[in-house]
Amino acid sequence: MAGVIIVGAQWGDEGKGKVVDIFTGEADYVVRFAGGPNAGHTLVVDGEKIVVRLVPSGILRRDALCVLGQGTVVDAKVLVGELDALEARGLDPRTRMRIAEHAHVILSYHILVDGLREATSAAIGTTKRGVGPCYEDKAARRGIRLRDFRNRGGLEARVLRALEAWAPTILALGGVVPTVDEVVTDAWDAGQNLLPVLCDTASLVESALLAKKRVLFEGAQGTLLDVDHGTYPFVTSSSAISGGACTGVGIGPTRIDSVVGLAKAYCTRVGGGPFPTELEGPVADRIRTVGAEFGSVTGRPRRVGWVDLPALRYAVRLNGLDSIALTKLDVLAGLETIRACIAYDTPSGRTREFPVDDLEICTPVYADFSGFSQDVSTARHLAELPKEALDFVRFIESEVACPLSIVSVGPGREQTIILSHPLRPT
Ligand code: IMP
Repeated sequence: MAGVIIVGAQWGDEGKGKVVDIFTGEADYVVRFAGGPNAGHTLVVDGEKIVVRLVPSGILRRDALCVLGQGTVVDAKVLVGELDALEARGLDPRTRMRIAEHAHVILSYHILVDGLREATSAAIGTTKRGVGPCYEDKAARRGIRLRDFRNRGGLEARVLRALEAWAPTILALGGVVPTVDEVVTDAWDAGQNLLPVLCDTASLVESALLAKKRVLFEGAQGTLLDVDHGTYPFVTSSSAISGGACTGVGIGPTRIDSVVGLAKAYCTRVGGGPFPTELEGPVADRIRTVGAEFGSVTGRPRRVGWVDLPALRYAVRLNGLDSIALTKLDVLAGLETIRACIAYDTPSGRTREFPVDDLEICTPVYADFSGFSQDVSTARHLAELPKEALDFVRFIESEVACPLSIVSVGPGREQTIILSHPLRPT
């Protein structure tokens, strides 16, 4: 197995950091293909928490080369801050990081517009990191790419064009349009700092795959936030599904050997938008507290709900999942009853499909399971799980018709039941 994609199968925050970190132990390259500083991965290594937004999780493994593909959007100041922080911990991120020179850059006016929009009634609950407006510029063919930082005059001309396009929006939203000099000066030093690690990452990754290196493509956000297939318009602005790895890096689909989807044993969502299995009250509070369900980028409390199996089936299909890594099973310990949405009642009858466009008018149908009170965080084999927990896990697996590769029972690297490893020969 050489090319493996890991994607979120729900609304993001499925525990990607931990699972990518485990797989990265066997990877030569860890490559991000979409999203920007809206993603936040909390890694727990040797008891220490580290949050990264742009740097791929693989940076903690000293022998993995980390890549940001051109489908990502880069806030140069955020990225330089992360690299500096990692250096302060004794790591050498700059020698092990390559960034697509074609990746688009988030500049101050993107963050300004994102924030101004989120203050209006049209808010969708973005992370306010400027991600959406940056992708808008890319599609509008007026974006700024990292390679533009090689020439200040050229960069200023491009920024001028973008600012002319954004000015009416900024003014209509009550903002102040920054000058070209303000924008460029704000980002210039960070952009210069990144120039030595820019390259043609598409050909770098292709060469690695041809040389049979093990390449892990690390998704950001989750399937239900995908701009094409998610709960539109409450989505992010990039391609969060497995297909996005090919376009976001610049490799062909024939180079991919396996796709792993991450799903929690329950569901969470941050920001607005439909969430049919959402819970409120003491059970939600308990899951949120035990599961530490607070946004790693924004600190917002995450909305919490039961696992949604039609949604997971949808993710299996859209991503072509070969396996599922089920995370945070331990968080459900102590609940008297655990529920799983197995179907939806719609105005035209019951369906096992995920009614992505009609969630507001559909009602989840649940299967109930007895809870388990034992601590499962020490289990390293499925057989060590209490019967109730095992029944629940096996039910999910059979309902979505996709084998489990991992069951995570705690935040630590070792708190993991590994059933199969996509980067290890079988
Ligand atoms: P944006 O990506 O900041 O534009 O936000 C669009 C939507 O995606 C909002 O609902 C965000 O809360 C959500 N979102 C973006 N990134 C993440 C993530 O990494 N985890 C979970 N939700 C996210």
